[in-house]
Amino acid sequence: MIHYHADSRTFALLGKASVYQIRISEKGEVEHLGYCSLPQANDLPRNWDRHIPTRTIRPTSSHQSFQCEYPAFGDTSLNDVALKVSFPKAARIDPATEAPHEPVRDARLRYAGHEIGSVGDPGFAPKHGLPVRSKSPRTGLKIRLKDELYPFYVTLFYRLTPEHDIIERWVELENACEHPVEVEKLAFASLSLDAFHWEITHVSGGWCREFQIERHTLHTGRFVWGSQAIITGLSTNPFFLLNQSGGATESVGEVLFGALAYSGNWEISAEVQERGGLRLSGGYHSLDFRMSLAPGEKHRTPAMVWGRSSGGWSGASQQLHAWAQDYVLPRPATHAPYLPVLYNSWEVAYFNIKEEEQMALARKAAEVGVEMFCIDDGWFGGRRDSKAGLGDWVVSKDILPRGLQPLIAEVHQLGMSFGLWVEPEMVNQDSDLYRAHPDWVLHFPGRARSEYRNQKLLDFGRPEVVAHILEQLDRLLQENKIDFFKWDMNRYATEPGSAAGRDIWYRHVAGVYGIMDELRRRHPHLSIESCSSGGGRVDFGMMGRVEQFWASDNTDAKHRILIQEGYSMAYPVRTMECWVTHERNHQTLSFLPLSLRFDCAMRGALGIGTPLNKITPEELEEYRRRIAFYKKIRPVIQDGILHRLERAEDRGTSVWQYMEAGGQRAVLSLLAHHAAMLKTPPRLRLHGLIADACYRLTDFTGQELGRASGWSLMTLGYSSLSNNGAENYSETILLEVCPE
Ligand code: DGJ
Repeated sequence: MIHYHADSRTFALLGKASVYQIRISEKGEVEHLGYCSLPQANDLPRNWDRHIPTRTIRPTSSHQSFQCEYPAFGDTSLNDVALKVSFPKAARIDPATEAPHEPVRDARLRYAGHEIGSVGDPGFAPKHGLPVRSKSPRTGLKIRLKDELYPFYVTLFYRLTPEHDIIERWVELENACEHPVEVEKLAFASLSLDAFHWEITHVSGGWCREFQIERHTLHTGRFVWGSQAIITGLSTNPFFLLNQSGGATESVGEVLFGALAYSGNWEISAEVQERGGLRLSGGYHSLDFRMSLAPGEKHRTPAMVWGRSSGGWSGASQQLHAWAQDYVLPRPATHAPYLPVLYNSWEVAYFNIKEEEQMALARKAAEVGVEMFCIDDGWFGGRRDSKAGLGDWVVSKDILPRGLQPLIAEVHQLGMSFGLWVEPEMVNQDSDLYRAHPDWVLHFPGRARSEYRNQKLLDFGRPEVVAHILEQLDRLLQENKIDFFKWDMNRYATEPGSAAGRDIWYRHVAGVYGIMDELRRRHPHLSIESCSSGGGRVDFGMMGRVEQFWASDNTDAKHRILIQEGYSMAYPVRTMECWVTHERNHQTLSFLPLSLRFDCAMRGALGIGTPLNKITPEELEEYRRRIAFYKKIRPVIQDGILHRLERAEDRGTSVWQYMEAGGQRAVLSLLAHHAAMLKTPPRLRLHGLIADACYRLTDFTGQELGRASGWSLMTLGYSSLSNNGAENYSETILLEVCPE
């Protein structure tokens, strides 16, 4: 619900438990008044308008304490800004008093009107036309601002999802001047907060160690993080959680959070200003950013997603998860309600694809209960290793002389769906595509073309390149009954020379989104996984196009615990693809038991990547039982509410509880990250159970481990029956209300 009080020109955006208030100041600037928990449930006080001060509520009207909702460079801005534009020609010059200092690098945005109602979609929103889970219409607010002198407009958009206390914000620029306007910095949104000791949680990392949680206090100055790799990035991710220092835990405390719904270069800045106030903003990365808006041209940015929770960090994550599940993830009617158990042959065969071996793996996979069989890299063109073939999306007759058909037919006949790996943005020098079009890659004339993993990045700034890739993939889908693409992306953009000039940074993203959207529109049964050397392209922009993400190339369960904890901070674990791989891990070379490998992989969407054709019948039987158990608990894992009861860093064991809506079933997942033998095992107080119901606890074999009432599990807690201080200990337990 959005309220407006005309006398004080104040807006209140009301969520289920939060209120976001802004007003138009006397000068026509948009002032942020506050974003906080609702002091009373579900509504504003009666006669809310009488509670609104008619003048600014700051102790001083100095610009330094003015909390500008979307500050622009120039005017009285002193600190970080959301927008920087320059006008090549002065609107007017008084030769008696003014020098012709052009371009005019100064914008003064003032209120020019507003609308409450439907606000449409942010920029780069999916165009595939597939439904999302929720059908509820959402209201929003548009505030139109105009420069004092130039017909240059900035519209601030707010779209409210009250049931999850989420506000998406974005902006649209419109150049109605007679000359182009240069945009040098463009944030999707910014937010000014009062002076406190702020503590921020975000993730950092790299290849094989994505999503490492970091938490630190913000000090005076600017903390900026982002990606300039043309993708979301492995080294960090565009979201944060913010609380007053010491004011939050996993389950309690006020937490404000933000995330960008965009898969290209981005930056988020948190600036503690001279007087202690905090200014947050997020949007396009400023490095090499320059957008020229022609007369009459508009640009609408992607969204920055905001929310606040009083349920601590887990509460913040739950709101983002629920919002993404309801409003972001595509839900084609043709798809099963839960993500299938996947088999991927990458760590078994690598580039060495042989039809007979893949058939054998498929048969074993079907036997143990796998539902989707995916062939990874190596099936196309001259791709026998990483040096050749990228760009040629045709089945290699050398290794699959009968094509893909017999393999697909076998997989389908075994009752599984069929998936295929692709890396559409790339080309190897040794490929037919590159031989035909050496000018189709990002490069600068006269400069050597760099390679990473022996590959170059196609120039998606050329419409003909995007069209060519779309048609190749579309033909592949028309000629073969492919149900799933694992869409990979394994190099950064370095030398960004493109037909699109500097616009390549976002034109590349638009190209990728455009191909995905069009493929999904033409083939609604298709599902997609986003992979980028692991978790390099996980974000809410991509989530609108895909079912799942490959969170990391690191499949060592001990490492995965931390990666998955970080992933779960923002993203629903339903979307987190996790494989059980070799006993001796290929990335870290450490040995881990099957129990831990399964218990860790079952935390998200379960996948298998082991040589099933080479393991003993006893072990195969264990796979079968564990996969059957996963299918039983899958609705709770994939659609339940996640509570991180303990993080690995707390006492050595990571404990997650998934809670089904209604409280009938829960799943408890305990994974020892490091041995904590001498520490008392935690008594785990569970959440959301039905107090007077009796719960039966069972393990993957169906064996009953005990019974306890909801009340006792929530107040006295659960103590693990096994030795949870031990190295490699893990348990996944189903809790179900006992029949009367
Ligand atoms: C990187 C991915 O992260 C891996 O899972 C695998 O698909 C390889 N690429 C294939 O080249």
